[in-house]
Amino acid sequence: MFKLTGEDIDLNWVRQVMEEHFTPENYQDAQELILPSLQEVQERSGYVSEEAVSVIAAHLDISETRVFGVMTFYNDFRFKKPGNHVLLICNGMACRVVGSQQLINDVIYPRLGLGEKETTPDGQITMQIFPGCLGACDQAPLCMADGTYHAQMDNTKLNNLIDELLADTGDDAAVTASGGAHA
Ligand code: FES
Repeated sequence: MFKLTGEDIDLNWVRQVMEEHFTPENYQDAQELILPSLQEVQERSGYVSEEAVSVIAAHLDISETRVFGVMTFYNDFRFKKPGNHVLLICNGMACRVVGSQQLINDVIYPRLGLGEKETTPDGQITMQIFPGCLGACDQAPLCMADGTYHAQMDNTKLNNLIDELLADTGDDAAVTASGGAHA
């Protein structure tokens, strides 16, 4: 779990990480290193900025368009700095069957008014609908807040969780990187 500092991504750190861990030996290698490079940056920073994409692309000697393509393919990457808390709503098949879309319609949209990957005006919560599976279908419908599972959610539980996240503005406010699994 990484705590956001409110600062932008340290590009010197990105360059250093790329040098140390993601130096390709050939073109195929470079292609395969795009995803772990992006994951590393989001793990530390909570998102991947355009500038970070430029650094990654330059180091791997591939186009920025290709890197953006990978980011877009894997829905869990964020292009903008998230709020203090990241709330994932699993909307995979098992969760949908037992009401995840209803949670989104009944609680998320009316209460927070957020679209996908948007952040509340106070910077407290970034909401993300996860279209794949968060990997604990037996606990559906499942949410994840800052990397912690919240099982068998209903409207009341989700409202209570949102209350907690909105109230937590202190040192404990933190986000995880990718915020979950990959699609
Ligand atoms: S579909 Fe939601 S945890 Fe598997």
